[in-house]
This record gives sequence, C-alpha cells and structure tokens, in this order.
Amino acid sequence: MDIRSYRRWFALIAMTVSSVLATYVWADPPTRFTNNGSVANTRHNLTQSTATGGISAVMDLFRNNYGEVCVYCHTPHGSQTLQQMPLWNRTIKATTYTTYDQLGTSTLTGTVSQPGNPSLTCLSCHDGQTAIDSIINMPGSGNYLASQTTSQNTAFLDAWDGATGPTSHFGLNSNNNTLGDGTGTQGCTICHRTILSATIPDFTLFNIGTDLTNDHPVGITFPTTTGAGTDWNTPGGTKGTSLYFDVNTNTKMDKDEIRIYSGQVECASCHDPHGVPDPANGNQFKPTFLRVANTGSALCLTCHNK
Ligand code: HEC
Ligand code: HEC
Ligand code: HEC
Ligand code: HEC
Ligand code: HEC
Repeated sequence: MDIRSYRRWFALIAMTVSSVLATYVWADPPTRFTNNGSVANTRHNLTQSTATGGISAVMDLFRNNYGEVCVYCHTPHGSQTLQQMPLWNRTIKATTYTTYDQLGTSTLTGTVSQPGNPSLTCLSCHDGQTAIDSIINMPGSGNYLASQTTSQNTAFLDAWDGATGPTSHFGLNSNNNTLGDGTGTQGCTICHRTILSATIPDFTLFNIGTDLTNDHPVGITFPTTTGAGTDWNTPGGTKGTSLYFDVNTNTKMDKDEIRIYSGQVECASCHDPHGVPDPANGNQFKPTFLRVANTGSALCLTCHNK
C-alpha cells in the first residue's frame, strides 16, 4: 500500500471509529512496554522495537526509525554544547515560553525565568514544535548537519539512509487534524488522541506546548531559606551547581533523588527520562518517569513542607 492509499484508509477508519465511540470516556491504556530494566522498555523508546505487537511499522511513516534508542536524544559526537545537556542530539529551537508567573497567583514568591536547559531537553519534544526525529547527528557516517542544533531541516531528515520510503516527521503537536504532508507540521496526536481507537494511547496531555501556565513552575528559584519553621525542606546534598535531597545520605546524586539545577526547579528535578527502578516493586520503573513515586504525595513533600 503506498502512503496515499494508507492515508485514505486511515482517515476512513478514523471517521468511523470516532463517530461510533463519540460517547466513550477515554482512559489511557496501559503501555505495551514492560517499564523494567532499560529506557528501551519504556515509552521513550521511539523505535518502539521492544513493545510487543509489532507496532513500529505503523509509526515508520511518521518518523525516521533510526533503530537505536539513545540517538533520538544523545549522540557520542557533534552534540549540542549547551550546559547541562549531556551529549544532546536534538534540535533546540529558540522559543519564548509563557511562564508560570504569568498566571498571576498572589502566592508565588520566587523568581521565574524561561525554562533552563534541564527543561529545554524535554521541551524539545514535549512542546510539540519539533519533530520527534529531528536530531543533529543521524546514525551512519556523514549524516550530520550543524544547523540542526537550532532548526529543523526536513530535507536533511528525509535523506536519512535508513529511510524505507516517504516518511513524514511528526511532533507531539495537536493542532493538526489531517494526516502528514511531509512538512513536519503535522502531529502524532492525529492518531494519538481521544477516542480515535481504543488501542491507540492518547498523547494530548503529553503535548505540553509552549504555554507553561498550567504546569508546575520550572525555571523557578528554589528558596534559600529552608528547614524548620519554613514552607521548605532542605536539600542536603551539593554537586557542582546542583543541590539534591540525599535521602540515603551516600553523598551521591542518585537518580531516585530530587534535584535542584543551578538553584532552580526544572523538568528533570522531578523526572528521569530513562525510568527509575522501584526496589519495593520488583524494580518496575516508577510511574510517569518520576524520580520519586508520588504515592501519598511523597514527591511534592520532598520539597514542600506542608
Ligand atoms: C497512523 C496513526 C499513528 C500515528 C500518526 C502515530 N502513531 Fe504511534 N501508535 C499507533 C498505533 C496503532 C499504536 C499501537 C497501539 C497499540 O495497539 O498498542 C501506536 C503506539 C505507539 C507507541 C507505543 C505506546 C505504548 O506505550 O504501548 C508509541 C510510543 C508511539 N505510538 C509513538 C508515536 C509517535 C512518537 C508518533 C509521532 C512521531 C506516532 N506514534 C504517530 C498509531 C499511530
Ligand atoms: C527521550 C530522551 C532520552 C533518551 C531516549 C535517552 N536519554 Fe539519556 N538523558 C536524557 C536527558 C534529558 C538527560 C539529562 C537529564 C538531566 O537533566 O539531569 C539524559 C542524561 C543521560 C546521562 C547522564 C546523566 C544520567 O542521568 O545518568 C546518560 C549517561 C545517559 N543519558 C545515557 C543514555 C543512554 C545510554 C541512552 C540509550 C540507552 C539514553 N540515555 C536514552 C534523555 C534521554
Ligand atoms: C523540586 C522541588 C519541588 C517539588 C518536588 C515540588 N515543588 Fe511545588 N514548588 C516548588 C517551588 C520552588 C515553587 C515556587 C514557590 C514560590 O516561589 O512561591 C513551587 C510552587 C508550587 C505551588 C505554588 C504556585 C503558586 O502559584 O504559588 C504549588 C501549588 C506547588 N508547587 C505544588 C506542588 C505539587 C502538588 C507538587 C507535587 C506534585 C510539587 N509542588 C512538587 C518546588 C517543588
Ligand atoms: C525524543 C523526544 C522526547 C524527549 C526528548 C522527551 N520525551 Fe517524554 N515522551 C515522548 C513521547 C513521544 C512520549 C509519548 C509516548 C507514549 O505515551 O507512548 C513521551 C511520554 C512522556 C511521559 C509520559 C509517560 C507515562 O507513562 O505517562 C512523561 C512523563 C515524559 N515523557 C516526560 C519527559 C521528560 C521529563 C523529559 C525530559 C527529561 C522527556 N519526556 C523527554 C518523547 C520525548
Ligand atoms: C515538581 C515536579 C514536576 C516538575 C518540575 C515537572 N513534572 Fe511532569 N509530572 C510530575 C508528576 C507528579 C506527574 C504525574 C501526574 C499524574 O500522575 O497525573 C507528571 C506528569 C508528567 C507528564 C505526563 C502527563 C500527565 O500530566 O500525567 C508529562 C508528559 C510530564 N510530566 C512532563 C514534564 C515536563 C516536560 C516538565 C518540564 C516542563 C515537567 N514534567 C516538570 C511532576 C513534575
């Protein structure tokens, strides 16, 4: 089936399914990944190769399947040189985000800046502006383009050696309701959204967008006055410019410990994008890539003394 007939077929299915299920209340189905052992077994495996059910072929029309898990985020050579972005392989577009302070809550005391680098890493997919497969150094020698550090070049992505046929380059954006045209402006959420089909996970909540006023503040200063009598717990550990809550007091910044980057809370303060094993639960990764599972609000209460 060529890509056009595939699209027509899919549009037909989509219309039928959505009209039949119009009153169905959506719940995100459990993932097909095991969420154990490696990032390869999580939703951040964008090759989808280890999920049971052979689903990666469906997605091959909408992003380059590089066949490697790490490369969507990291490269050993030719990475970004921005601070606190370890060997970062993704396009970071210059963006002005609508920050949490613009919500105007009277309670907020700290200074909010634009998201710092340990948030921009995540937002390079989760703000929906950049294709999932927009990387600087694609697998194979010579598949490198310096301008990819700041802008997405669709012709470069199209030329990838391993591409099996016409591939669109989708991001997590949800603004588009027609199937991809190869310009990179269409989104994964054309399929991954409410009620399209009971087996396709809904990603609309994962598309955080560029308006961060409905998200826990990032780029927010962590108070320097903490401890008894204040609203804040004291991060005991220091590593370079970072602080962390050294729960096991081994003086190492472990992945299951909440951290403050250069005095600020960022996405990676609460989340580890590779998954954090929970020894109390057969080393299953904690839900939602969290460093500390939020059972009993344990995550929130690490920082907030409430
Ligand atoms: C043509 C529709 C379609 C498009 C477009 C699409 N997907 Fe999918 N996706 C599916 C289907 C179908 C499944 C399999 C659902 C199942 O049965 O588990 C799936 C499953 C997935 C899964 C596995 C979910 C899990 O946890 O088990 C991931 C991850 C995923 N898609 C990512 C993406 C990304 C990223 C994009 C955009 C680059 C994308 N998809 C675009 C149809 C689509
Ligand atoms: C979905 C994106 C993503 C994927 C896929 C990914 N990483 Fe990462 N990785 C990150 C981010 C973001 C950071 C920085 C976290 C921070 O700010 O502290 C990171 C940090 C790291 C670090 C240094 C800090 C740490 O947490 O240990 C190593 C090492 C690393 N990744 C290795 C890997 C390897 C190896 C793979 C493939 C098996 C991989 N990563 C796949 C996003 C990813
Ligand atoms: C890494 C530390 C950290 C963690 C973990 C954390 N917060 Fe916060 N939170 C902050 C900081 C810092 C602020 C900014 C406080 C200020 O400047 O007034 C904040 C602000 C807030 C605010 C107030 C915003 C306002 O407008 O006044 C709420 C509500 C909040 N957090 C709830 C939560 C919840 C719920 C959780 C758990 C899901 C959580 N926080 C986890 C550090 C954290
Ligand atoms: C290479 C693109 C990419 C990067 C970079 C990335 N993500 Fe994701 N993330 C995705 C996609 C695609 C999904 C949806 C997959 C699915 O649901 O099957 C996702 C899903 C998630 C989920 C939902 C998981 C769940 O089980 O509900 C969380 C949480 C998340 N990402 C957090 C982060 C954080 C935090 C960072 C940065 C530290 C980050 N991501 C970096 C692509 C990315
Ligand atoms: C203060 C801690 C904290 C910070 C900072 C934070 N998150 Fe989360 N995030 C959470 C918690 C807790 C959940 C789980 C919510 C739930 O289960 O409903 C979550 C859920 C998510 C999800 C899954 C969708 C959802 O709402 O359940 C995504 C995607 C995500 N976070 C991405 C990000 C990105 C990107 C950033 C930075 C812009 C970020 N997070 C910053 C605590 C945080």
